[in-house]
Amino acid sequence: MNFESLAKPAVLTQPIYEPGKPIEHVARELGLDPAGIVKLASNENPFGPSPRALAAAKQALEHGELYPDGGCFELRQKLAARHGLGADQFVVGNGSNEIIELLGHVFVGAGDEVVMGAPAFVVYKLVTLLFGAKAIEVPLRDWRHDLAAIAAAITPRTKLVYVCTPNNPTGTANTEAELVAFVRALPDHVIAVIDEAYAEYVENAPDLRPLIAEGRKVVCLRTFSKIYGLASLRVGYGYASAELCALLNRVRQPFNVNAIAQAAAAAALDDVEFAQRCARENRAGLRQIEQGCRELGLEFVPSVANFILIKVGDPSTGSGQAGLRVFEALQRRGVIVRPVKSYGLPEWVRVTVGSREQNERLLRELAVAR
Ligand SMILES: Cc1ncc(COP(=O)(O)O)c(C=O)c1O
Repeated sequence: MNFESLAKPAVLTQPIYEPGKPIEHVARELGLDPAGIVKLASNENPFGPSPRALAAAKQALEHGELYPDGGCFELRQKLAARHGLGADQFVVGNGSNEIIELLGHVFVGAGDEVVMGAPAFVVYKLVTLLFGAKAIEVPLRDWRHDLAAIAAAITPRTKLVYVCTPNNPTGTANTEAELVAFVRALPDHVIAVIDEAYAEYVENAPDLRPLIAEGRKVVCLRTFSKIYGLASLRVGYGYASAELCALLNRVRQPFNVNAIAQAAAAAALDDVEFAQRCARENRAGLRQIEQGCRELGLEFVPSVANFILIKVGDPSTGSGQAGLRVFEALQRRGVIVRPVKSYGLPEWVRVTVGSREQNERLLRELAVAR
């Protein structure tokens, strides 16, 4: 008997997540100088972490010998103050990815269904499959989540329904009114998971806290990996009713979020000015890339997030692989973007909004690589 024959069936058919390529990896592979490479592939913050977060992380490292606070007390206090909710209405994870997994642990099993938009953040599907459940994918409509079609896809077997807004990889959002009406109309056995990983980039982002106050079955996910520039430290959170958070907390590892990440995240929350500046720079960067695309005659999907989908091919003329071709050509020129073939968009690439200089470089290289 080999190991595979002993493994659980869901593991053997599990698709593998393809992350954006790290700079060092691309440098090694292509013989490039890492210092000259720009990574615009994983929706990271081009301005790094806030200096206050960095200082707090360094200080926390001084006590690396101690286990972290498994309950993330201080961070939850800060989150409670920020969102005007109780500290018991938060669950903190090793990235918001972990909260998606915790939702699987608590609610999803063989024979269940989880409904999600397509294309949307692929981890919803990966976790669903890992728990032996069925992923019901509902196509987007005009690039946005089609909430009516999602509602229509719900069955008695549905456990969770994911709505990613702004959506990855499209950068499009649903309105507060749409989301509120959608959640209010859900049957009682279904939990809405609203992934707000990019909410801080959006002006007047939907406020779904009233739904929690009303007792609706909803959990919202946020991350410190994006606007707070802490992707490498892995910290994200969910906010919901205290009852739901207690269930999610029950299944996490005792020390799932390290002390450096907790300290950095708490300090990052305090640096409101830094996050506001990043959001402003991002909006200017989006306009810069959109304008550059217009000048190059490239179609794009108008985005409210910190990334943008750009169409680099045309199925009527190309091989149907333009996204991969342009991704590779850009990579050879030292710019890493994300091909989105695996999201069913072979003619497109997803590009993270960088600093002004990085965006200029992207547009320069894109003019040659397209
Ligand atoms: C929509 C969405 N949700 C969640 C995540 C995961 O974030 P984290 O780094 O907090 O695990 C990402 C990361 O790309 C994302 O795009």
